[in-house]
Amino acid sequence: MREPALHVLDDPAAAVGGLLAEAAAARETIVLTGGSTPGQAYEHAATLEPDWSGVSLWWGDERCVPPDDERSNFALARRTLLDRLAEKPDVHRIRGELRPADAAGAYERELEGVELDLLLLGLGPDGHVASLFPGSPQLEERRRLVTSGPAGLEPWVDRVTLTLPALLAAKRIVFLVAGESKSAAVARAFRGPITDAVPASLLRGGAAPIDVYLDAAAAGAAQTRGQTP
Ligand code: 6PG
Repeated sequence: MREPALHVLDDPAAAVGGLLAEAAAARETIVLTGGSTPGQAYEHAATLEPDWSGVSLWWGDERCVPPDDERSNFALARRTLLDRLAEKPDVHRIRGELRPADAAGAYERELEGVELDLLLLGLGPDGHVASLFPGSPQLEERRRLVTSGPAGLEPWVDRVTLTLPALLAAKRIVFLVAGESKSAAVARAFRGPITDAVPASLLRGGAAPIDVYLDAAAAGAAQTRGQTP
């Protein structure tokens, strides 16, 4: 278990875009996150590396909506990354248009035996990662790789999500976090006790190195700027 490295930067999305571009150039297996933060990082990555042929692309979670719904994490990636690429990756979309349990089962069958090289995650203000919310039964799942259940925060639609064992199996974990509203969650997730109450903190119990790219607002007064691992 290693303490996460906090990289406090003026433009953490640009840094994460660079990491994604490097991973794509190396033809890695990459897991994207959803939400409102990663779009700029995806745009940077597409500009830096337009050739994602040979990349195997996955998602850490998905809202149970059709792929053209504005709440879809796939729609976010299509708009900010996929549509901008000259060479497309091998896309493994969580099929949000299906019944949640069916979407989870189909995704889990695809994911079986796949090694995740780079897992990109966001951090919820409640400390959730992917769609593993504090106190949720989905957070307790230890056998399956993928599960489904209700949202613990907006948008209030059912979710399909990788489970904690699936997240912990990734070779490398990168967080992208921005804004004052995440400051308390950052301190709890990466510097507080490891507890179910803060799902992101549970990732510190695994072997994968964790790098957190964040702005000063998310880092809060507790972190010095530009701190590196
Ligand atoms: C989702 C994401 C979720 C997200 C956090 C942070 O489906 O919403 O996968 O885990 O990363 O909620 O979201 P923001 O970047 O919007 O703050």
